[in-house]
Amino acid sequence: MTSHPYLSELFSLDGRVAVVTGGSSGIGRAIAEALARAGASVVVVARKEAELAATVAELADHGCRAAWVSADLSTRDGVRAAAEKAVEVFGEPDILVNSAGINLRPPMGDLGEDVWDTTMAVNLEAPYLLGQRFGPGMAERGFGRIIHITSQQAHRAFVQSGAYGVSKGALESLARSQAEAWSPYGVTCNTLVPGFVMTPLNARLASDPEKVAALAARTMVGRNGLAEDFAGAAVFLASGASAYVTGQAIFVDGGLSVH
Ligand SMILES: NC(=O)c1ccc[n+]([C@@H]2O[C@H](COP(=O)([O-])OP(=O)(O)OC[C@H]3O[C@@H](n4cnc5c(N)ncnc54)[C@H](OP(=O)(O)O)[C@@H]3O)[C@@H](O)[C@H]2O)c1
Repeated sequence: MTSHPYLSELFSLDGRVAVVTGGSSGIGRAIAEALARAGASVVVVARKEAELAATVAELADHGCRAAWVSADLSTRDGVRAAAEKAVEVFGEPDILVNSAGINLRPPMGDLGEDVWDTTMAVNLEAPYLLGQRFGPGMAERGFGRIIHITSQQAHRAFVQSGAYGVSKGALESLARSQAEAWSPYGVTCNTLVPGFVMTPLNARLASDPEKVAALAARTMVGRNGLAEDFAGAAVFLASGASAYVTGQAIFVDGGLSVH
């Protein structure tokens, strides 16, 4: 098995600390597991304690080092408190994954300021504030990885993109701004772009078999995404192997975006 030391050299996250927002569900949970099983000590951040505790218990079953912080990322104080609680566990993070997100989908004409504000707070402002909190330290230490989860709707409008599409478009711009600022110091900043992934976020849509089949047919692979489809891309972007990849949007979508 001579290939294993080489794979470790490329992709191992041993000794790294990761903070994963939205790490208790769907894509974030799969990424938290992937980073932890690749060697990182992982802190998952979300609101619901039962889901957080279940995630950490599952990671512990895999022999991983993991902990959780319950916080509401829809307020600036909530984000700041989450960051401080997270660093208390394993120290300052080397890897930040922003997967916490909401998609409220009212028709554009009915889109009120409340939905706009909450969407921007969770999907865009929390990643910005966490980046401001952790990015400079990563740059000072000479290594960092910031990974945001965006959306097809960052690139095109469909199924009532509304405030959600705006927040995800801006999040891709945020990744580029962060990449510009911190890449010279070893901190890469990228986004993973899902297609349609079967997670609780899409529970309503997922209950309509015709729509699910129609979405699957729009991919090249011929199926909709699963949370675990993000494991490999997340480990790559979190690892030393991706040192020369920054400011990029990487589509993990079965070919949906190019079909
Ligand atoms: N599923 C898809 O098809 C799809 C497609 C494109 C993009 N995405 C993006 O991928 C990311 C993950 O989505 P998912 O499908 O995995 O969704 P999910 O299963 O609904 O998970 C969302 C996570 O965010 C957390 N969260 C939501 N609001 C929060 C808040 N105010 N404070 C703290 N945590 C909060 C949730 O935990 P609590 O509720 O306990 O707080 C949960 O852990 C999102 O950014 C989403 O926009 C998903």
